[in-house]
Amino acid sequence: MRLIVVDDYNKMSEKAAIMVASQIILKPNSILGLATGDTPLGMYKELIKMYNNKEIDFSNVKSFNLDEYYGLSKNNAQSYNYYMKENLFKHINIKEENINIPDGTAKDIEAECKNYEKRIQDQGGIDLQILGIGVNGHIGFNEPDITFEAETHLVNLDEKTIESNSRFFDSIEEVPTKAISMGIKTIMHSKRIILLACGESKAEAIFKTMKGKITPKTPASILQLHNDVTVIIDKEAASKL
Ligand code: GLP
Repeated sequence: MRLIVVDDYNKMSEKAAIMVASQIILKPNSILGLATGDTPLGMYKELIKMYNNKEIDFSNVKSFNLDEYYGLSKNNAQSYNYYMKENLFKHINIKEENINIPDGTAKDIEAECKNYEKRIQDQGGIDLQILGIGVNGHIGFNEPDITFEAETHLVNLDEKTIESNSRFFDSIEEVPTKAISMGIKTIMHSKRIILLACGESKAEAIFKTMKGKITPKTPASILQLHNDVTVIIDKEAASKL
């Protein structure tokens, strides 16, 4: 794992955006794996700036998002579909048909998971996957467990995740208790991975991810076995390393 410790959130966002931009410049038809949450917002802003300055072109890029809440429709302001549209897609020239996000309202969730996984494999996997990290070490919505879940699947969200994500909802009762998430194998098959984290609250998860035992109790720890992971974090998130 390559570690880059930066001064602050803005520096993390700039560095990550430069890496994504160079991926797109070198391979204009890149398959990007995208994440939600607060962490990648600054990176998306930087990418939009680069697009407006005509430094990058998303017309041949395809994207797959890591996850989506179960039960939330695309138009729900808390859905990850909505987040991606508002924070990135509506500002750039990615084609609608090239955007992939699990459908949290699919009638047959198992079929939706299988189909999502197949769509990723049909593209030959993800070229560059962006990851944030949960305070409990989750990636996507792969929660601490007794085994690593391989492929896209329906997840029961961890109490800590529900509590931490309740900040985006009016009340904790509104936070969905389930989600669809890419699996660990899906993520690990990505050719390159960038893991982003900021702030003291992520320090323990980052320590366990980089220095701890590889265990499904810290899902992100499996990244130690990937041969092209760049961890870009601020000083606070690096404080326990
Ligand atoms: C969410 C998402 C993750 C994200 C994580 C951290 O639950 N499913 O993909 O990385 O939480 O979020 P934040 O960046 O807001 O701390």
